[in-house]
Amino acid sequence: MSESLRTTAPLAHPVSRAVVVVAAGSGTRLGMGTAKALVPVAGVVMLERALEAIFALAAPTFVAVVAPPDRLAETQSLVTRVAGPAAPYTAVVPGGADRHASVEAGLRALPQSVATVLVHDAARCLTPTAQFETVFAAVERDGCGVIPALPVTDTVKRIADDLVLETVDRSALVGVQTPQGFPVAALRQAYAVATRSETDDAGVFQAAGGEVRFVPGDADALKITTAWDLRRAEAIVRDRAAVAAAVDDQVPLFGIGIDVHAFDAAQPCRLGLLAFDGEPGLAGHSDGDAVSHAIVDAMLSAAGLGDIGGVFGTDDPRFAGASGAVFLAGAAERLAEHGLRVGRVTVQIIGKRPRIGARRPAMQDALAAALDCPVAVSATTTDGLGFTGRGEGLAAIATAVLRR
Ligand code: CTP
Ligand code: MG
Repeated sequence: MSESLRTTAPLAHPVSRAVVVVAAGSGTRLGMGTAKALVPVAGVVMLERALEAIFALAAPTFVAVVAPPDRLAETQSLVTRVAGPAAPYTAVVPGGADRHASVEAGLRALPQSVATVLVHDAARCLTPTAQFETVFAAVERDGCGVIPALPVTDTVKRIADDLVLETVDRSALVGVQTPQGFPVAALRQAYAVATRSETDDAGVFQAAGGEVRFVPGDADALKITTAWDLRRAEAIVRDRAAVAAAVDDQVPLFGIGIDVHAFDAAQPCRLGLLAFDGEPGLAGHSDGDAVSHAIVDAMLSAAGLGDIGGVFGTDDPRFAGASGAVFLAGAAERLAEHGLRVGRVTVQIIGKRPRIGARRPAMQDALAAALDCPVAVSATTTDGLGFTGRGEGLAAIATAVLRR
């Protein structure tokens, strides 16, 4: 068989960006007895899902797919079909005995014009297009290696045999994903001198003296390794389909959110993006702005995107002390990814203090500016009843209506 089935015709438009998709692994741990990249996730094979995200990139991008050697022709026809008019900008080459050899095969298949390459695992088939954009942009801006990474949320221990030696400080650790991006010449040089000890491309690049930075990854970019990962990926696909169906439908997208925080006199009081000097603050991992958090929950629930804890985490170190504006902007970004934006918000504050009356117009203005939509704020006490009546804490209830 020829070394490659790739197109040999010169490209009509030279491209400077490329993605190498490694898909040649056998999927031993998944245990389906077939090449992992060709295993379906909710009816569509992993490689196809990975390619769909890549072909959605705005800038012209060459795509080299490293295929299971015994499924080359089948992979070629899949790539041609998914690429459509971009088919001349693809290559399909057989993989090697390990991931390292497969990446090298992919790098050999790139046209001369490529300056920046991203190496991506087909097994991370739900990686959003935005993650490819972010990595490309960062490599082109900084000229170094760039990898997506997420904070480690489990407590991590160092062990020896069955003995636990110590807890590792997880604030200095991240878990890394793909795509990992590099200036192509430097990555080729790094692979030329690499040993087999590195487990990712950034490791190879760094061992050869390259500098690597990281950008925030995305939980959806999980690597499907085991049957449990496959089920989780299928759940993500179902959630996305539900959101897509809601977006297509003409029914108004309406959401509700509630947030409650206890007072913590040691904290400054931040509510509805305003500072209330001299008032007790609200306890929480972030700045405790219950008004912003209730609005975020209303926005996310209107889109069927879950809630603030699910999207931003309840103990993510990146959000320690974060202001409500960070979450409002993050929720708006999530909506935008699904073609949605918030059209109107109402929020009611329930509590004895702080007194809202005089600050109501300012709070409405601050929230409206952050959300780019009208916001109505109201407040009530509970006649001395319940935890708000006793002055133990404060609650906020919000509604959001979305626009498509
Ligand atoms: N990969 C590859 N060539 C290899 C081995 C792995 O292209 N010889 C690719 C896989 O297809 C996958 C990525 O590298 O997209 C990450 O590898 P991994 O998740 O370990 O996949 P498998 O090797 O297929 O799985 P397992 O280790 O369970 O056999
Ligand atoms: Mg493997």
